[in-house]
Amino acid sequence: METTHRVYVEDSRDLSNLDDDSVELVVTSPPYPMIEMWDDLFTDLDPAIGDALESGDDRAAFDAMHAQLEAVWDELERVLVDGGLACINVGDATRSIGGRFRVYPNHARILESFEARGFDPLPDVLWRKPTNSAAKFMGSGTLPPNAYVTLEHEYVLVFRNGGEKREFEPRADRRYEAAYFWEERNRWFSDVWTDVRGELQDLEFDGEGSDLRERSAAYPLEIPYRLICMYSTYGDTVLDPFWGTGTTSRAAICAGRNSVGYELEDAFLEVFDDRVDAVPELSRSIGRSRLDRHRSFVENRRDDGKSLGYEAVHYETPVVTKMERSIRLREATAIDERSDGYRVEHRPLSISLESPTG
Ligand SMILES: C[S@@+](CC[C@H](N)C(=O)[O-])C[C@H]1O[C@@H](n2cnc3c(N)ncnc32)[C@H](O)[C@@H]1O
Repeated sequence: METTHRVYVEDSRDLSNLDDDSVELVVTSPPYPMIEMWDDLFTDLDPAIGDALESGDDRAAFDAMHAQLEAVWDELERVLVDGGLACINVGDATRSIGGRFRVYPNHARILESFEARGFDPLPDVLWRKPTNSAAKFMGSGTLPPNAYVTLEHEYVLVFRNGGEKREFEPRADRRYEAAYFWEERNRWFSDVWTDVRGELQDLEFDGEGSDLRERSAAYPLEIPYRLICMYSTYGDTVLDPFWGTGTTSRAAICAGRNSVGYELEDAFLEVFDDRVDAVPELSRSIGRSRLDRHRSFVENRRDDGKSLGYEAVHYETPVVTKMERSIRLREATAIDERSDGYRVEHRPLSISLESPTG
């Protein structure tokens, strides 16, 4: 099986390279309005934003920054198939402007914007990010009443395009083979994720520390990887209109889906290019750790005297539900850079998963 991964170094307020109804899932993290690191970028997109910030008109700046994102949301409605999902990772911002401190609720604003465009909001996820403990003392330290709660979470807002679910032919392999384990469903479909750094080994920023992650505001690979497994099937294409260092595309390769990205900053493409050769190994290690975790789950469940009613078809392991039987993880085996993007060869992850005895 082959997947393709394209990146356009272009402005995603115009997605005219993409046909109508040509992507099945959007997974992205935009620049967060009112976070200072993005002031220059927003001002480049609309110089009135810089003027508003300089004159202390924070509301005008907030509105105008969201207007830049809304131009992208308009395009998503067109390129996403009916019933396709959009997952938007975003955090709120806190800031003092003109001596007044307040929160700028980006998540609420984006929720309204998507609803106004005919998307149906679905239950969202709140994930806890590790923060610097010094940041906990915002405001007046330990004296009431003027200290502020620290923002230690971000949102993954989830929307469906149009009112209807996607339809599949009965027993479609690309859907059944992309199933996730029952215990993964229980963890992934919780509305609070406290373990996003725990599950996949965070290889992607090894050697460069957190500096690059901070400069690029990259999210942990685990966020797009889970969302792609939760909300798309094999054969689908995942779009990230704020591609950054391409974490979404690396997650898509690991999950065996196609991807397409848009990014203004061409230097990030080199970052991706430097790391892409390591992705086959990453995909294998992610697949193996999912299977290892399943094996531990099976052992624990047996120890608890609970049943596992079905046998998986492609791995020597029992599973809890009938829907999991055809699960077939994929690993990337070769990556080839072409003029129009990357072609990736995949094969089924083929390790034997012994049934634990006892
Ligand atoms: C929060 S970062 C995304 C980080 C990415 N998720 C990762 O893991 O590396 C937002 C990115 O969107 C890009 N960007 C902002 N506005 C854009 C636009 N209109 N078109 C294309 N890219 C844009 C920025 O250059 C930045 O790299």
